[in-house]
Amino acid sequence: MYARLLCVCLAAVSVVADVIEDCKLSGDKTSSTEQALLSRLAPLKHKRFETTYNDGKDSYTYTFVVCGHVFNSSTSTNEGLVQNDTKASKTTVIGRIDETHIINGTDWILLIYKNGEKYDSHCGSEPRKAMIMISCNKNTLADGFTIISEEKDKNKECFYLFEMDSSVACPIEESHLSVGSILLIVFAVLVGLYIIGGFLYQRFVVGAKGMDQFPNITFWRELGNLVADGCDFVCRSQPRSSETAYRGVGDDHLGEEPEERDDHLLPM
Ligand SMILES: *[C@@H]1O[C@H](CO)[C@@H](O)[C@H](O)[C@H]1NC(C)=O
Ligand SMILES: *[C@@H]1O[C@H](CO)[C@@H](O)[C@H](O)[C@H]1NC(C)=O
Repeated sequence: MYARLLCVCLAAVSVVADVIEDCKLSGDKTSSTEQALLSRLAPLKHKRFETTYNDGKDSYTYTFVVCGHVFNSSTSTNEGLVQNDTKASKTTVIGRIDETHIINGTDWILLIYKNGEKYDSHCGSEPRKAMIMISCNKNTLADGFTIISEEKDKNKECFYLFEMDSSVACPIEESHLSVGSILLIVFAVLVGLYIIGGFLYQRFVVGAKGMDQFPNITFWRELGNLVADGCDFVCRSQPRSSETAYRGVGDDHLGEEPEERDDHLLPM
């Protein structure tokens, strides 16, 4: 039973460590730093975020998927961030996940999707580009996705800038626990599991009551006795049987002592 529980825990850990495959880092030779950073986004994989921009004149909805497709597979062209012009009901791909860049600092990660649909006349008709600034926030896995600005008044290198809060952007905390304390915690957890699991087993499967619900009670009782005997043997300065032995030595005490003791027992 315990072995299976352990297996489930290990399986859960290995799933989290899974690397995001869908985001394709651009370049023939991908950097291992970028790859490592990308794997930090794994908890957000395929999560979808939406934000609306409305300035009275225009109204747009932006949909962002972390290393996943915004549209269903039949119509998908690797779009990772899409603008929907609510009034004209026209969709424009801002960035695609097959050309991903990612950079980081102490408490932020900048995710860039390039290769969006080309501008008509702005920015030298280059492909659109989305930059999503993910800032560290320990209290949320992902929240507050909003558009900051659209830069399109240059003749190249234009971009759409978004921001978001997430705990994945927080600095990886060095574990303050030493190997010893981790072992201690693991031991305590195992003991806890043993007692709880054993208790439930004794109570509901065996049907034990009272102290007998404690797992392997007979064994622990015996162990307790053994330990007590051990202590007795090691710590006692005089042998236990001495009381009786001494009585034999002094003949005069032999008769008196029991009487003296009996006096105390007399009812008052
Ligand atoms: C994709 O397909 C599913 C059902 O197959 C549907 O519920 C969902 O709305 C579709 N999404 C889009 C963006 O079209
Ligand atoms: C950026 O991310 C990498 C990979 O997770 C990490 O090793 C590095 O320390 C981060 N850089 C900074 C400045 O925190």
